Amino acid sequence: MAFINICGFISLQALAAPDAVSGKTKSQTCFACHGVDGIGITPNIPHIAAQPPLSIFYQLVQFREGMRKGGGMEVLAKPLSDEDIRDIAAYYSALPPPPSTAGDVAKLTSGQKLAQQNYCNSCHAPQFQGQKQVPRLAGQSTEYFIVQLHNIRSGSRVDMDGTMGSAARGLSDEDIEALATYAASLN
Ligand code: HEC
Ligand code: HEC
Repeated sequence: MAFINICGFISLQALAAPDAVSGKTKSQTCFACHGVDGIGITPNIPHIAAQPPLSIFYQLVQFREGMRKGGGMEVLAKPLSDEDIRDIAAYYSALPPPPSTAGDVAKLTSGQKLAQQNYCNSCHAPQFQGQKQVPRLAGQSTEYFIVQLHNIRSGSRVDMDGTMGSAARGLSDEDIEALATYAASLN
């Protein structure tokens, strides 16, 4: 995993600047599910609008290499070159973030507390907006969020450097639901 990590980083440095306009053209096949605005059309499809470009890049590389599977993404990412992925990432990352969703107040408050106790913000950034290779969680679909955290906790989704796996290990199902409610409430 670390190898892909380093390679991805080097190729990012070495190639020409990513092109969001060409990224939009290359994203035509994605619109059916992620929308032209980066908002997933059903709750099991992630919002990718305003995700950090490096996070989109690494997730697509992981799908392409078969290291992450789900939603048929491993097939959809197969034909994409590194340059395609960088352009696509430039397009989606520049879109306005998904709107926040108000949830159950008790869950939301508990989620906020859990986020502080578990230092989620130290990686996902203060308002869960994401940074570098760390995905944005603010405004994310709660259904998608919950499924992914379960998968990361069980190890069926292997994260790129193991840090997220450790962060998820101690969370209960209830904790995960509360954290998802809190994340959705942010913008
Ligand atoms: C048929 C519907 C569908 C299409 C078409 C589709 N996706 Fe996805 N995508 C999904 C689903 C579902 C997931 C969540 C997969 C999982 O459960 O892990 C996903 C996950 C992702 C993720 C990971 C987001 C995150 O927060 O980790 C990225 C990035 C992504 N897709 C980009 C794309 C791009 C770029 C295209 C076009 C080349 C595309 N998708 C086409 C359904 C689709
Ligand atoms: C040490 C850094 C770190 C900490 C702490 C951390 N995360 Fe993460 N998180 C990541 C990284 C990196 C990823 C992307 C993993 C991958 O697929 O390689 C991620 C992915 C995720 C995802 C999947 C998002 C998506 O779009 O697919 C969720 C949900 C998540 N984290 C929630 C949390 C919560 C909740 C906490 C606190 C309990 C937390 N994280 C703590 C680094 C961290």
